[in-house]
Amino acid sequence: MHKVLVLHGPNLNLLGTRQPEIYGRETLADIDDALRAKAADHGWAIECRQSNHEGELIDAIHAARLDGTGAIIINPAAYTHTSVAILDALNAFDGRVIEVHLSNVHKRESFRHHSYVSLRADGVIAGLGSRGYHAALEAVMGGG
Ligand code: DQA
Repeated sequence: MHKVLVLHGPNLNLLGTRQPEIYGRETLADIDDALRAKAADHGWAIECRQSNHEGELIDAIHAARLDGTGAIIINPAAYTHTSVAILDALNAFDGRVIEVHLSNVHKRESFRHHSYVSLRADGVIAGLGSRGYHAALEAVMGGG
């Protein structure tokens, strides 16, 4: 069975109440439940994880190298703009990598315009809210 890992970075556990004018009113559980349903419809296994800790995100990427995961959909949140370590971990993963941001980071503060993860990502989606995760999942399941 094909397997995809969805990784959410710091503060995304607060979705729904965190700056809803930027990030929307859906909770992370809402988003993950919808992604799980979509993956199941297509016969894909999916694991959704959130962590506020850089090392835990890296450990999850390392685990994905060994457990048959074919693709990682990642919203690294603030680590997008700071983490060479997450970039290095993703560089050691052989499958597809899609980077997702709920907000359009390019319309925001200049420190959000640079992404280390984009140096590895096969695709980048920003500004579509939770639809971005769905687009990423569809791309992965469609082989793109
Ligand atoms: C974010 C954008 C980041 O700049 C920010 O630090 C986040 C969320 C997004 O989904 O729009 O926490 O990745």
